[in-house]
Amino acid sequence: MKQKVTVVGAGNVGASLVERLHTTGLVDVVLVDIPETGGMPKGKCLDIEQGGSVLRSDSSVIGAADYEQTKNSDIVVLTAGFPRKPGMTREQLLDINAKIVSSVARQIISASPKAILIVVTNPLDAMCFVALRETKWPRNRVIGMAGILDASRLERLIAQKLGVSIENVSACVLGTHGETMVPVPSATTVFGVPITKLMKESEIAEVVQKCVQGGAEIVGLLKTSAYYTPAACVMEMIMAIIKDKRKILPCSVYLEGEFGLKDVYLGVPAVLGKNGVERVMEVPLNDQEKAAMDKAAKAVQEMQDYLKKSPVPA
Ligand code: LAC
Repeated sequence: MKQKVTVVGAGNVGASLVERLHTTGLVDVVLVDIPETGGMPKGKCLDIEQGGSVLRSDSSVIGAADYEQTKNSDIVVLTAGFPRKPGMTREQLLDINAKIVSSVARQIISASPKAILIVVTNPLDAMCFVALRETKWPRNRVIGMAGILDASRLERLIAQKLGVSIENVSACVLGTHGETMVPVPSATTVFGVPITKLMKESEIAEVVQKCVQGGAEIVGLLKTSAYYTPAACVMEMIMAIIKDKRKILPCSVYLEGEFGLKDVYLGVPAVLGKNGVERVMEVPLNDQEKAAMDKAAKAVQEMQDYLKKSPVPA
């Protein structure tokens, strides 16, 4: 039997992801959204599944307005929530999306109690905390997707700057999925060589700045959040998990002492395998990078503290 993946939220990220999952033919997929969306999830899924013949995919793709069909999923991806509008920070979505994530998490617990949950909704690190608090699942099964997206953006910028293939670039981006993102130049390499040896300080500062603003740049143009690459990045996580690759990918993980930080969701290198986060890999950081991680942790901790004070939303 194929593994089953549920995608919650039939918006741009959700639908792009379902299309990608279907193309692999490796998993069966359910796309669920609120009943108010009417037949929309079903319509999108029918459209995608009808391509099975030309795409040589036997994956079933089911659209639903409740969680009945999602039962016993192996992986659930939570994309539900409001995207940013131009001029907004991700943090401004905190209250509104916390309510949505709590309510979705409750439904996921009863339908798929053993699933691995991948959170995509913003503000990412805080929404992971909401999902962890609601599910009470172990941290290895509640993971956030952000660092892969930010690293991918940085890799593109470095490849273009140096005129080399993007395949030769490996970026390390930790911290939050926000202003306190922590690109780590010393662990960002081109053919194994740290970019600190290949680029001037000013050039590194320029690509880092563009990377941090990468999401906002798209929001300014599209008037909504990015979705093609976010969906591709979730795919990377799903493939690492279902193939038990133990691939190291930057993901938002609830830290239990790693990097000297505790009880906070933060982007760190995570070894992803069949159990979700198999372990966190600690990369050596210089003083400046360590200070940036501490600052990032503080920013998320503040949001977590705020959420702890507010009652669990109905
Ligand atoms: C971005 C959104 C997905 O960074 O947060 O584009």
